[in-house]
Amino acid sequence: MTVLRPVLAGALLTLLVGSAPVFADASRTTPAAASTALAAHPPGAVIASAHDLATQAGLRIIAQGGNAFDAAVAVASTLGVVEPESSGIGGGDFYLLHDGKTGKDVFVDAREVAPAAVKASQYLGADGKLDHDKALDGALSAGIPGAAAGWVYVARHYGRLPLKQDLAPAIAIARGGFPVYARMVSEYAERQDVMRRWPATTAIYEPQGKPLAVDDVLKQPDLAATLQALADHGDAGFYRGEVAKKIVAAVNAAGGHWTADDLAHYEVKLREPLVFDYRGWHIVTAPPPSSGGVALAEMLNILSAWDLKKLDAATRVHLIVEAMRRAYRDRTFFLGDPDFVKDMPIARLTSMAYADQMRAGIAMDKATPSSSLPGAPPPHVGKHTTHFSIIDREGNYVAATLTVNTAYGSGLVAAGTGVLLNDEMDDFALQAGVPNVYGVIGYDANAVKPGKRPLSSMSPTFMLSPDKVVLLGSSGGSRIITNVMRGILGFDDGLTPQQVVTRPHFHHQYLPDEIMLEPQALSDDVVARLRAMGYTLSTRNSTWGIMQAVEWDRRSNTLSGGSDPRNPVGSARVQLQEAKP
Ligand code: DON
Repeated sequence: MTVLRPVLAGALLTLLVGSAPVFADASRTTPAAASTALAAHPPGAVIASAHDLATQAGLRIIAQGGNAFDAAVAVASTLGVVEPESSGIGGGDFYLLHDGKTGKDVFVDAREVAPAAVKASQYLGADGKLDHDKALDGALSAGIPGAAAGWVYVARHYGRLPLKQDLAPAIAIARGGFPVYARMVSEYAERQDVMRRWPATTAIYEPQGKPLAVDDVLKQPDLAATLQALADHGDAGFYRGEVAKKIVAAVNAAGGHWTADDLAHYEVKLREPLVFDYRGWHIVTAPPPSSGGVALAEMLNILSAWDLKKLDAATRVHLIVEAMRRAYRDRTFFLGDPDFVKDMPIARLTSMAYADQMRAGIAMDKATPSSSLPGAPPPHVGKHTTHFSIIDREGNYVAATLTVNTAYGSGLVAAGTGVLLNDEMDDFALQAGVPNVYGVIGYDANAVKPGKRPLSSMSPTFMLSPDKVVLLGSSGGSRIITNVMRGILGFDDGLTPQQVVTRPHFHHQYLPDEIMLEPQALSDDVVARLRAMGYTLSTRNSTWGIMQAVEWDRRSNTLSGGSDPRNPVGSARVQLQEAKP
């Protein structure tokens, strides 16, 4: 079903093309008769995000003369207000940008960093074991936030409008409020014990002495004032001055060890995107400190030798899983923050020679036990992120994945700022070989150090072919990378964005040595055949992540988008725009 919603007068027309309740294929929008030549510019803009208020905020900024980068700042900051369980000014972001004018791609790393006083021993309990409460809840779990610096950077270096204008929608919604939705409530219920530890958090999320309910209006005046300070003063409005002082005071009062310098010295890092080719697609994706790009390249290089479309379903799943297993094994040992780990074998892991070697170890009819892979670790003692995609009429692209890590991050709101801090420190291998909340492990490359960025799975990605541009990404913790990988395979199979984001997921991450399945992901017959090959399968109902994807088909010059049906408040909208005379 296509819902036509003309929201703007004049030369603009907005179409809702993919919202979560719409399970049908994404609609395609054609402004004029399709032609066979490749279009030089899209017919307008498309935005897919996890909340319709954010999608609409981005499209309004474009209608006001902004570009995709201005829209990205509007969408990201609005998501931080209306989807606090997933991302926000207290978290960290990755932006993959394509500048339509210069043709250049850049990766903006606004990931959190560890505070200068961090010590791995802080995260251990009296018994010497990793204390998951310290890693995931409250002051010690929070890294120095990067999101605000990311927004300022993207607006200043790539946007066309003043930062103030880009942040205006978020500020208005923080001040005026928005209706609470079911996912906010259910995820709050899961984190309630932690959220209730701090009065500044409870004051926002339980304003009447009980948790907010669906359709209650959530107003965040302190957050509006913090966003306004950022709008007025840029980086200094958040990382120095009053807001910074309050954040440091709140973290230290809650048992953390931050200094004014930790905030004042925060820096966005620009990185070269990781690129590789897969069956006629040029893939542009996330480099370290994301593990996503390296793992995607390794998996897809391994798989590129087979025409997956021609294989029976069980063999196809088997080969995909074996590729996943090997890439996650390498993630475990080799990857971390490139500013700290100088000897990451990225060229080797992403080479076709390495893929050939990995492929040679895969039997066509049998699962490889993870414990039999070389380099397996010695035995050891032991939702909530958001992705959006934007294409504008000028041919600029933004794929961005933003996070506070687990639902509502650390649960700690810095009193007087409305800033809900992340719990990204759990993404470090805080104790070697001990699984974090997503069950992934790590060693030296991802050990915690002052000023270091924790290894991420966030993988904003472009897929480019001569006639198609696809932008995709997902939340889902360690499942992000496999969601994106299967998304790439789905687009390669000719699926639409809505089909790709709807399809049930499956995942393998080396350890635990099992295929995790979303209900209905595989037929009974395929499950039986995989069991016969030696696999353990476990169906998981927990959050599989929320995917957003958009596509520009240059042959028909159509834009389309897909918004994950697992998240009913998300949307994908196309805004057609006449070319300027
Ligand atoms: O950066 C990462 O890989 C994680 N902090 C992402 C967390 C996430 O996706 C939670 N989603 N459900």
